[in-house]
Amino acid sequence: MDWDQDIDETLDDELAESELTPAEAAHFQRLTSADADGDERAVEAALRPRSLDEVVGQTRVRDQLGLVLEAARRRGKAPDHVLLSGPPGLGKTTLAMIVAAEMNVPLRLTSGPAITHAGDLAAILSGLNEGDVLFVDEIHRMSRPAEEMLYLAMEDFRVDVIIGKGPGATAIPLEIPPFTLVGATTRAGLLPGPLRDRFGFTAHLEFYEPHELDRIVHRSAGMLGVDLTPEGSSEIAGRSRGTPRIANRLLRRVRDFAQVRADGVVTIGVARSALELYEVDESGLDRLDRAVLDVLCSRFGGGPVGVSTLAVAVGEERETVEEVAEPFLVRKGFLARTPRGRVATPAAWAHLGLTPPAMPVTDSSLFDDV
Ligand SMILES: Nc1ncnc2c1ncn2[C@@H]1O[C@H](COP(=O)(O)OP(=O)(O)O)[C@@H](O)[C@H]1O
Ligand SMILES: [Mg+2]
Repeated sequence: MDWDQDIDETLDDELAESELTPAEAAHFQRLTSADADGDERAVEAALRPRSLDEVVGQTRVRDQLGLVLEAARRRGKAPDHVLLSGPPGLGKTTLAMIVAAEMNVPLRLTSGPAITHAGDLAAILSGLNEGDVLFVDEIHRMSRPAEEMLYLAMEDFRVDVIIGKGPGATAIPLEIPPFTLVGATTRAGLLPGPLRDRFGFTAHLEFYEPHELDRIVHRSAGMLGVDLTPEGSSEIAGRSRGTPRIANRLLRRVRDFAQVRADGVVTIGVARSALELYEVDESGLDRLDRAVLDVLCSRFGGGPVGVSTLAVAVGEERETVEEVAEPFLVRKGFLARTPRGRVATPAAWAHLGLTPPAMPVTDSSLFDDV
């Protein structure tokens, strides 16, 4: 049995319960989305690092987590609760699995959206054995009552099971064996303070540098049996938006291209042609990202323009532009959100190969001598 794959399928089932908004659906269909869709999870599982040593990049998090785990091992105790935060696709699930693997204990998993009642959580907690790792993905999406139950469990290894309703209800305390909670969240800011404070160790994952993504692409190519030149690899790494999940996905798409349209070897030329075909440009922008920038610059003179207008102009929902395209454009320094609307930066004009309009002259002293 493939343990990882099993876990990914379980997570998938749990997450599938929540309906997708149009913006989310648009997001999942994109090659440059940092989220994994159902089929992808199985492929990804095979590429996951299995130990801290195999993890590429994130040196500080790796060192700190390594220390936490080693200390716990020497004490013969379950490690402190661990919170992993950061954007999708950077390795939170991978690290959660590594915590269990490094401690050589079973991993139990669930996700915030799956815990709709405190009773769901009580059932999970009471089924834990001493030392188990409980992984709660998307922990910021847990219901309030469940959250409160979790505080107590994390701190006192106890849950209060409520029997009955109304004034006659009684709380029966139930001891649970010491366990390690590993929570993952893309939105650490949404976690209530009391919950955040109960994690002994918090790691924030950062976007990866191109040379780190390069190593990840090499590693994945090795595991998938893809023949890849160093230049081909760095071409893929450079277009991966700082995100290992995207790097691995682009590698698979480029491999398809190499096998069908070339001799199977991923050279720089093959990588470029493939990514051009898939509409992922040198900076990792995809069709929608470029459409937004293009409309902003060539139709609205670089802005400021309201996001709704921008959305109509590219033929998308406002949320799609706001949640799917904009974050990366802002991160890249191509677009600024101002109170008066969206504005293209000089870097955006340069990226599109366009010349920005001459700056309006506001300083009349410039003309004093004329
Ligand atoms: N540090 C890393 N080194 C190598 N591969 C990584 C690393 N981080 C993530 N990956 C790869 O990226 C994919 C997504 O990682 P995952 O842990 O599922 O991200 P998250 O849970 O943060 O969305 C995994 O399949 C894994 O192979
Ligand atoms: Mg994950």
